[in-house]
Amino acid sequence: MFIVANWKMNLSIKDSIALAKEYGKLFKKSSANIVVCPSFTSLPFVCKMLESLPVAVGAQDVFWEKAGAFTGEISAEDLKELGAEYVIIGHSERREYLGEEDWMIRRKIEAAFTTRNLTPILCIGESAEDHERDEREEVLSRQLSEALDGLSLGIGQSLIIAYEPIWAIGTGLVPEPEEIAYVTDVIRVLLRRYFGDRSDRACAVLYGGSIDESTVVPLMESGVDGFLVGSASLKAREFYRLAERVIN
Ligand code: PGA
Repeated sequence: MFIVANWKMNLSIKDSIALAKEYGKLFKKSSANIVVCPSFTSLPFVCKMLESLPVAVGAQDVFWEKAGAFTGEISAEDLKELGAEYVIIGHSERREYLGEEDWMIRRKIEAAFTTRNLTPILCIGESAEDHERDEREEVLSRQLSEALDGLSLGIGQSLIIAYEPIWAIGTGLVPEPEEIAYVTDVIRVLLRRYFGDRSDRACAVLYGGSIDESTVVPLMESGVDGFLVGSASLKAREFYRLAERVIN
């Protein structure tokens, strides 16, 4: 099971250090894969603090080139050098506010795939309008094919897909468990199309959007491999309780 904390741009460096310290105290051992994704500026501190603990660190974005004249961007190698093992790619907030398009997301996935031990967490999900028009499957299938078609999974390479319906992020709305189970299956079938049977071992499918310690409970039966958590990850105890519910 994966439980990924996306701190977004909610915390100062000082607050991120304090929260990482609390996470460190609570997660001394864990049978789940706990991943914390702080902002770029907090990343070096959080990586150092959680180094010897069973909490991995991820970044919230990456650029696709290795180096060069790309003002403001951060390479996959830089993330590795700091100690990040995961990277969120294509979050709906970046698609919406930063104009991130599928071709960019594809290049970012490729950059993570060609960096040793850096696992991409690819976010996909339909908008409220897509949902109303009953176009969810088409949207998800297009997002996956534009991000992944033609790429291959190298030896030891894994990929995490986070299904995050945009209408469920930060709204308190959560799809029914049966819907999440259905979408998870659809995603797994599509992944097999790109990566063959290997995808069953190398890929995990998570759900994200308004997950907290109560909304997570009914979703435990939906067959997902874990959760991507935003606001409920900003309080260490709350996140820990949520993780305990998932693990036990
Ligand atoms: P939320 O955010 O848990 O606050 O809805 C999830 C996400 O955006 O990854």
